[in-house]
Amino acid sequence: MIPNDMESGIVAAIGNTQLLRLSRVQKDDRIRLYAKLEGLNPGGSIKDRAALSILRRALETGDVRPDTVIIESSSGNMGIGLAQLCAVMGLRFICVADAKTTPQNLAILRAYGAEIDLITEPDPVTHEFLEVRLDRVKELLRIIPNSFWPNQYANLYNAVAHHQTMSEIAAALDGKVDYLFCATSTCGTIRGCAEYTRAHRLETEIIAVDAVGSAIFGDKKARRLIPGHGASIVPPLFPPEVIDRCIHVSDLECVVGCRVLVRQEGVLAGGSSGGVLMAFQRVKSEIPDDSNCVLIFPDRGERYLETIYSDSWVAKHFGEVSHLWEQFDPSQCLETTS
Ligand SMILES: Cc1ncc(COP(=O)(O)O)c(C=O)c1O
Repeated sequence: MIPNDMESGIVAAIGNTQLLRLSRVQKDDRIRLYAKLEGLNPGGSIKDRAALSILRRALETGDVRPDTVIIESSSGNMGIGLAQLCAVMGLRFICVADAKTTPQNLAILRAYGAEIDLITEPDPVTHEFLEVRLDRVKELLRIIPNSFWPNQYANLYNAVAHHQTMSEIAAALDGKVDYLFCATSTCGTIRGCAEYTRAHRLETEIIAVDAVGSAIFGDKKARRLIPGHGASIVPPLFPPEVIDRCIHVSDLECVVGCRVLVRQEGVLAGGSSGGVLMAFQRVKSEIPDDSNCVLIFPDRGERYLETIYSDSWVAKHFGEVSHLWEQFDPSQCLETTS
């Protein structure tokens, strides 16, 4: 059963997230720094918007009907966003996840009623899970009748969702958005935001924040510890022509950024949010006075309690580094590679 009024219920709680002024990590008034708190979406991340946009479109076109089975590859936020909507729409959802998916995310997916199809072995050549997960999605689509693949890496409606994200930011700042810092994976967020700024002639410099070791901007592939931003492929949605600059952040920078945010601003955010803050720190000396800078924070920190916010996990991977956030000097940047 798909409710006639698809916009009711939990769906109505998606979007219109708070734009928060960060006045503790950016104390002087030379630059006004804001964070768009996408973790306030009901499924806990920015992917609620993408999931809703893709399913809404598929309902309009008839690609999704009451007996359709939704199948997607995700180890985290997109899977949870889809699981939430499939629950409220009464749709069967199969999430193809992998051995790196955290037990907590698997538990959340199951709580919403999603079925998990778990890939246990990575590709023997690339050692990546993504390709194997995508092959499994294609296999399931072949064998399950009436199935639909949202395909977040290529579906334009992933990006279309973020025209609204950017419109909310622009409205809150009366159209003066000088810099936008945005983490990248499928590139849906950055593409949608950039399309909006172009269409509305906003003079916004668009800065992509990618992971060291991610393939999106041609970095040499390397092991990444923190999920969310970064990808092992160049996504079909990647829009090089609208991105003014790319900054690569290391896993350690993400940890430090997250720990600074929670201690100084009381914002418990996910890994890519910490990375976005550190990317801003790196370039802020080049930013002109009186600028409005917006950081998109894609998700909340609860899903990272066993990693980023665990002292033993941090010590195991980076050694004794607590001085990096305990004595954090906002006037300095931290350049690290993990
Ligand atoms: C925590 C987090 N940060 C950043 C991103 C990147 O967003 P996008 O896929 O729109 O590029 C994602 C995507 O899943 C994410 O989960």
